[in-house]
Amino acid sequence: MSVACKQLLQQDVSLSDRTWFKLGGSAQNFCAPNDVEELRAVLKWAKESAAPIRVLGGGANLLVRDGSVDGLVLSLSRPDFCRVEIEDTRAKVGAGVDLMQLSRDCSHHGLAGLECLAGIPGTIGGAIAMNAGGRFGCIGDVVQRVRLIDADGIIVDCDARELKFAYRHSALGARLVIGAELKLRQEAAADVKKRFQDNWRFKKESQPLAAHSAGCVFKNPEGHSAGQLIDAAGLKGFGRGKARVSEVHGNFIVADEGACASEVLEVIEHVRGAVKAHCGIQLDTEIAIW
Ligand code: EPU
Repeated sequence: MSVACKQLLQQDVSLSDRTWFKLGGSAQNFCAPNDVEELRAVLKWAKESAAPIRVLGGGANLLVRDGSVDGLVLSLSRPDFCRVEIEDTRAKVGAGVDLMQLSRDCSHHGLAGLECLAGIPGTIGGAIAMNAGGRFGCIGDVVQRVRLIDADGIIVDCDARELKFAYRHSALGARLVIGAELKLRQEAAADVKKRFQDNWRFKKESQPLAAHSAGCVFKNPEGHSAGQLIDAAGLKGFGRGKARVSEVHGNFIVADEGACASEVLEVIEHVRGAVKAHCGIQLDTEIAIW
């Protein structure tokens, strides 16, 4: 490992405080590059070391297993990756930009298109990677172009159509998002702000946002709500150790202080089995599990 690269990497960095679940193990190698050049240097190291690369977005949709996460964990949280430039109705944003903050700021300035994402935590990069959204819309609806970097450090600007956004899916492959261009619409600020607030209120009323969780754990099977299926199977409140299915929304698993990832995983597997037994539908996880 070159001296320059050695300085960029930190070993055994705890990830629990960087996730919304507030649990789980540590990254064997962690790096928050200051700019694209540093990012290229660590990507090169990862390629040469055959180290798998994982990007930590806002840590919102993520369960980190207990123990050590191998390879490289990247965080694009430094200022160079968190820029926001607005020109008319076009927003150029870095991958590390906070989605909730951007959605709120745009709504307050009458820029419509992101208010449907009110209350959805995470970063722009993470949101694009999984086409984050909810019943009111998804980020793919407003993405126009995405700037990607591949394992060789090559940057390409990709048209949104090439990414084939679908329900909680985008065709990024092994490439990482470093920024995006969003196409918003100018509307009366009061109207956009109201929609933002209504969506935010809906989320606060229907989801356990104050508890430690990773949001919805399972994808909605076509034509169904996973939360409703879990609820109907009588699983609300089902728990293992300090992790349990939320009483507020069936698709949330909440973790009390001191919970470990293995308890959350046991709840996930129990719920999957019980829903399958109850209605024959197989649930797939929406959250990333490292
Ligand atoms: N429902 C129940 N019991 C429950 C939960 C829900 O009966 O425990 C019913 C609700 O009453 C409603 C239906 O199921 O009739 C759908 O519920 P909800 O409106 O809460 O939507 P959802 O499909 O469960 C989706 C997203 C959420 C997003 C909301 C609102 C998925 C997996 N979930 O939830 O996203 O916040 O719409 O936009 O797509 C997330 O991805 O982390 C997430 C929370």
